[in-house]
Amino acid sequence: MTLLEVRDLRTWFPVKKGLFSPVKYVKAVDGISFTLEKGEVLAVIGESGSGKTTLGRTILRLVKPTSGKIVFEGRDITNIPESELRWYRFSTAMVFQDPFSSLNPYHTVQYILEEPLILRGVPPKERAELVVKALEEVRLVPPEDFLKKYPHMLSGGQRQRVGIARALITRPKFVVADEPVSMLDVSIRAEILSLMRSLQSKYGITMMYITHDIATAKYIADKILVMYAGKMVEYGPFRDVIKNPLHPYTQALIEALPDPDPANRFKIRKVPPGEPPSLINPPSGCRFHPRCPYVIKGKCEKEEPPLKEVKRGHYVACWLY
Ligand SMILES: Nc1ncnc2c1ncn2[C@@H]1O[C@H](COP(=O)(O)OP(=O)(O)OP(=O)(O)O)[C@@H](O)[C@H]1O
Ligand SMILES: [Mg+2]
Repeated sequence: MTLLEVRDLRTWFPVKKGLFSPVKYVKAVDGISFTLEKGEVLAVIGESGSGKTTLGRTILRLVKPTSGKIVFEGRDITNIPESELRWYRFSTAMVFQDPFSSLNPYHTVQYILEEPLILRGVPPKERAELVVKALEEVRLVPPEDFLKKYPHMLSGGQRQRVGIARALITRPKFVVADEPVSMLDVSIRAEILSLMRSLQSKYGITMMYITHDIATAKYIADKILVMYAGKMVEYGPFRDVIKNPLHPYTQALIEALPDPDPANRFKIRKVPPGEPPSLINPPSGCRFHPRCPYVIKGKCEKEEPPLKEVKRGHYVACWLY
C-alpha cells in the first residue's frame, strides 16, 4: 500500500535585496518526486544546503509548497488549509537533529512524553502506561529512573532516545528524522539508528531519514534519494544505488566513505571538488556540471538532464545515461 506520494515538489523561498530589486527565489526544493510504501524508510542524502530539511518540512506541511503534489494515504494534502490538517498533524511526527534544543528544558521526561498524548486526549492512566512502555522501548531503563529527570540531566544519546520516544509514542504513520544522530558521538550512532529501525519496523512506520552521511543510511534505509542543489540526481532501492551508483555525485559520495581496512584509514579521500552551488543562481543545465569529472562539453551546461529509469526502480538524472 502506498502511504506517501510526492510529485514534482517545489519549495521556493522569495528573497528581495533592495526595495526596487526584483524578487528572486532560493529554490531549496526544485522538482522532487518519490513514493513510499507503508513501512518503508527513505534516506535523503545531500550536502549542507541541498534542501533536505526543507523537503522534510514541506512534506510535513510545516512549510508551504510552491508547486507539485503531496498525497498521503490517497488524500491530496498539498494545499489543504491548516484547519483541515489536524488528522495529518496527528499522523506524522519529527525527530530533530539537536536533542537538546528540541526538548523543553523545564519539563520532565515524563511530561515531555505525555504532552503529545494529552493533546490527543489520551486518559491519564493510559498515558502513564504508554510513557513507561515508550521508555522501555528506547532502552531508558528502569523507566522510574528517568521519569522525573530533566533534559540537562541526560547524556546526548539518552536525550535523543527521549526525542525518538516522543515522536513514536503517538504511533505516527509517517516520521521525518532530520539528522537524528549527527550531533551524537560516532560510537553510539549505529546503536541509535538500529533502535529506530527496529521500532519503525515493529510499528510499520514509514520514515524519511535525512542525513549528509551516506554511511549511516545502511542501518536504516530501504530506498535512497540523493539531492544536489534542490534537485534529485539519483533515486532507487538502497542496495542497488550503493552497489551501482550511477550519478557522478553519488559515486563521489561513496568514494569519500572511510575505508574499513585499517591500513588505509588515514589515506586522503577524494571528496567532490568545488563548492556547493548557489540556490538563487544555480548553474545552468545540470547543476552538478561545474564539479563533474565526466562533464560533456556543449551538453551538460546547456540542458538539464531529465530523471530517467535506468533499471527497475533505479532513477538517475545524468546525460551519461
Ligand atoms: N525559511 C527559509 N527562508 C529562506 N530560505 C530558506 C529557508 N529555509 C531554508 N532556506 C534556504 O534553503 C536552502 C536549503 O536549506 P535546507 O536547510 O533545506 O538544506 P539542508 O540540506 O537541510 O542543509 P543542512 O545539511 O545544512 O541541514 C538553503 O540555502 C537555506 O538557506
Ligand atoms: Mg538540514
